[in-house]
Amino acid sequence: MEREFTGRVAIVTGAANGIGRAIALAYAAEGADIAMLDREAEPLAEAAELARRHGGKVLPIVADMLDRKQLAECFARVESDLGPAYVLVNNIGQTARENYSEFYVAKEETLDFVVAVSLQTTLMCSRQVVPGMRERKAGKIVNVSSDSAINGDIGTVDYAAAKAGVLGFTRALARELAPFKINVNAICPGATNTRAMQRIPKDAFERARNAIPLGELCEPEDIANAAIFLSSSKGRMITGQTLLVNGGRVFY
Ligand SMILES: NC(=O)c1ccc[n+]([C@@H]2O[C@H](COP(=O)([O-])OP(=O)(O)OC[C@H]3O[C@@H](n4cnc5c(N)ncnc54)[C@H](O)[C@@H]3O)[C@@H](O)[C@H]2O)c1
Repeated sequence: MEREFTGRVAIVTGAANGIGRAIALAYAAEGADIAMLDREAEPLAEAAELARRHGGKVLPIVADMLDRKQLAECFARVESDLGPAYVLVNNIGQTARENYSEFYVAKEETLDFVVAVSLQTTLMCSRQVVPGMRERKAGKIVNVSSDSAINGDIGTVDYAAAKAGVLGFTRALARELAPFKINVNAICPGATNTRAMQRIPKDAFERARNAIPLGELCEPEDIANAAIFLSSSKGRMITGQTLLVNGGRVFY
């Protein structure tokens, strides 16, 4: 039986670990040829090995998406090795983690970094695929935001600002691209069982877990299921939307 994304190229940023890895594997399982972009070589090679088991083409590329030159080279390579992108999942992003602090004491370089990694990478990666998607009048963009964008969590002002920016970007881009039959949507994961969650301070972790009505963290696969749905033919009339996958912590 033909799978949903057979013969189509999906690009996933931050695909070596956590949510991005689960998303890349889900597209591979649905028949896509996948480009997996990440700056961490070892876990990326491991994730690519898992993806290859699904039988499609797999192109892992080690690159830092904060470096504009590397980013552009990376997307050019995807196009020449795999072909034009049908799906882009902008997954890269993070809080200040160990440098987590309330705004009044936050360091300027931390604020800059969190906004760059959580918002600018989304814009810059999208820029690489949008012209081609417009020409082909086909494509799906899925942006990974966070329920912090909606709830606003103490100590993550920079992250909430950047991830709310991702939602605004999603809506505006969805309007621009709707005439070209391109869907742009966002997912807001709640606390999800990845290493990122283990890195935040213990009290913040406890607070996050205790605030989930369904009583457990999301698994990366829960987020991957949402990405697949939003970019599939079943989601064809959904665009500009924000889907919360968070065990009920915040409603929107
Ligand atoms: N884990 C959660 O609880 C949670 C909750 C809400 C939103 N999110 C969002 O989900 C996304 C994935 O989070 P995760 O928990 O899987 O994180 P993770 O740290 O487990 O994985 C992130 C991946 O992105 C890669 N990456 C980061 N910066 C990069 C860069 N500049 N260039 C290339 N690769 C880079 C990392 O190497 C890593 O493999 C992020 O946008 C995060 O903000 C996560």
